[in-house]
Amino acid sequence: MQIAMAADHGGFVLKETLKAFLKELGHEVVDFGAYRQEPCDYPDFAIPAARAVADGECERGVFCCGTGLGVMLAANKVPGIRAVRCHEGYSARMSRRHNDANVLCLGGRVVGDELAREVVQVWLRAEFDGGRHSRRVQKFMELEKSA
Ligand code: RB5
Repeated sequence: MQIAMAADHGGFVLKETLKAFLKELGHEVVDFGAYRQEPCDYPDFAIPAARAVADGECERGVFCCGTGLGVMLAANKVPGIRAVRCHEGYSARMSRRHNDANVLCLGGRVVGDELAREVVQVWLRAEFDGGRHSRRVQKFMELEKSA
């Protein structure tokens, strides 16, 4: 799978850890930065990476900041993106099965490396259930057409 990654200084170390893990799992990572752990603004990285997912250049995204919240909020402003912040496996799995989430966000100051790896793996493996969930996702994605 081709995966877009993005982080600010608060998520930089976690991004690097997860990038190595995703490569180990055989995924291709497109890293939109940041490339250094210097103070920077998360939208500068989350928005281009989210666009790559929305445009189909990358299948999914894994974004990190201090809390996982900033990158999630920025990514969700890009049409076509369903970004979720998950720090445990159940929500990560259900965000795929019921919400068809295409970007996973994690907080480098919140979650440990081992838990983050587990959450990412669970999230990447889970598929969208479709059916009634497609109708529900469609109902809020349609708002983008009138925005
Ligand atoms: C940076 O200090 C921090 O605000 C950022 O990484 C993120 O947590 C914002 O939501």
